Order: sequence, then structure tokens, then C-alpha cells
Amino acid sequence: MKHRITILGNGNMAFAIATGLSLVYDLEIVGRNIDKLDSFEKKLGIKIKKTLYDDFNGCDKDIVLCVKPANLKDIQYFFSAKINTLYSVLAGTKIEQLKQYIDAKHYIRTMPNLAANVQKSMTTLTGDLICKDNAINIFSAIGYTLWVDSEKELDIATALAGSGPAFLALIAEALTDGAVKQGLKRTDAMTLMRGLFLGFGSIIQDIHPALLKDAVMSPGGTTAAGYAQLEKNGARDAFISAVQAAYKKTQ
Ligand SMILES: NC(=O)c1ccc[n+]([C@@H]2O[C@H](COP(=O)([O-])OP(=O)(O)OC[C@H]3O[C@@H](n4cnc5c(N)ncnc54)[C@H](OP(=O)(O)O)[C@@H]3O)[C@@H](O)[C@H]2O)c1
Repeated sequence: MKHRITILGNGNMAFAIATGLSLVYDLEIVGRNIDKLDSFEKKLGIKIKKTLYDDFNGCDKDIVLCVKPANLKDIQYFFSAKINTLYSVLAGTKIEQLKQYIDAKHYIRTMPNLAANVQKSMTTLTGDLICKDNAINIFSAIGYTLWVDSEKELDIATALAGSGPAFLALIAEALTDGAVKQGLKRTDAMTLMRGLFLGFGSIIQDIHPALLKDAVMSPGGTTAAGYAQLEKNGARDAFISAVQAAYKKTQ
């Protein structure tokens, strides 16, 4: 029999996580609207246990919390018994805060990213060491995992890998706009950008970014001309500052 995981919430992240977990685990989804739970099940394409908050009993369950941080105070009343392990995906919500609202034997904080939708999330995890292996197993169902030793590191990871898809989306859009500005058709520019990201995603796995850049940049060539403009316009500092601002926001 498959182990059951309960997911609280039926939004975007809940769906992305459920998609990956459904391949390995039996799922219970808890929400506040039965129509939304029905369409969640239909979209997922497999049978799940659907539970409304009023009928929810968390006793001894492993629960993945996928609501917004501000919803903690509303859902706390539905936890009448101690749960087993709480896996929280809530950005910027410390384990100490989770403890104030939900009574669990163990607490894990996780930070998946948007690529969970395609089972390629880069998920950071931290929390009770005793649950480390279980946590890694569960979140491996939605992609890659990295266990870190502190909540501070998880918050920094949030700024890099959690917000990262939005930062890279800005680069993707800007490069495409640059090509359109020079006269390339928008559809062709989009095709090139997508192919670029696909190939880059593979290459960067095995090479340091600085070496990759050196390999592309010929003396006095086109890449060197473009690269100089990025440095002149502070692109490097802009991204370092973006990670700093995102990390500060998690605090
Ligand atoms: N999206 C990302 O890329 C991402 C990445 C990492 C972490 N996260 C974290 O994932 C969590 C969920 O984000 P999301 O993008 O999935 O948001 P979302 O799509 O807006 O889903 C929010 C969920 O919270 C429920 N909810 C809202 N108000 C509620 C209340 N008062 N009581 C109980 N449930 C309530 C919603 O239920 P209804 O459908 O009934 O409104 C919905 O199931 C957030 O804490 C976020 O920090 C998101």
C-alpha cells in the first residue's frame, strides 16, 4: 500500500507538488471549496481523497502545507490533534512561527520553485534532521533537492532558486526584445531564446559560468562587445542586489 501524504491547499504550488507526488504516494487534498477540489482531481487525472477543512483530521499525518503565509492564522483551528511531520512550502515563514499555529512531532521547511510544474523544481529543505531522508524522498518527486543546515540558508536559497525563475524570465524577455529591436521577427526571437535556455540549462551543469563565458568570448569579437555593455550597465551588480533584496524580504 502506498504511503499517504496530505496536501493542504489546492492552488498552484499544491497542484505542482501533487503532480509529482501522485506518481509515488496516495494523496489527500484538503481545501475549502469542493468544486475546486473536484477540478483539482480532474486536472490531476487520478483519484485522490478530497477533504474539506471542517472534516479534516490531521492526527499523525504527514502534511505538506501549501497555503499562503497569511492563511496560517485561519487554518490553525482545523488542527485539533498532533500531526506527524509538517512540510511547509511557505516563503519566509520560520519554524518557530509554524509551531505557534500547528502542533507537529517534526517540522521541515522547503522552498520549491515554479519548475515543480514539470517535476524539475530546485527545492531547498531544512528542519528536523531525523526527517531529512523522508523529506528528500518526498520532494525528489518534484525535481532536485538540496538539504541545508539552517533556516538562514533556506531563506538565501529562496532568493536564488525560488525567485530565480522570475529573474531568468527578465533576462529571457530582455534578450528577445534586444533581437526584435535589431529587426528579428518576434516569433523567431522567442524560438531562439527558448532553444538558448534549453541548451544552456544542460551545459551549465558541468562547467563553471566564468569558464563557459570565456569559451564563448573570442578576442575582440561579438560576445566581448555585448558583454562589455552588460558590465558597463551594471548587470552583475543588479543581480547581486536582486538576490540581496529578495533575501531581505524573506526576513
Ligand atoms: N508559486 C510559487 O512559485 C511558489 C514557490 C515556492 C513557495 N511557494 C509558496 O507556496 C504557497 C502557496 O502559493 P501558491 O502559488 O500555490 O498560491 P495560490 O495558488 O494562490 O494558492 C493558495 C492556496 O491557499 C488557499 N487559501 C487562501 N486563503 C485561505 C484561507 N483563508 N484559508 C485556507 N486556505 C486558503 C487557497 O484556497 P482557495 O483556492 O480556496 O482560495 C489556495 O489553495 C505560498 O505560501 C508560497 O509562499 C510558492
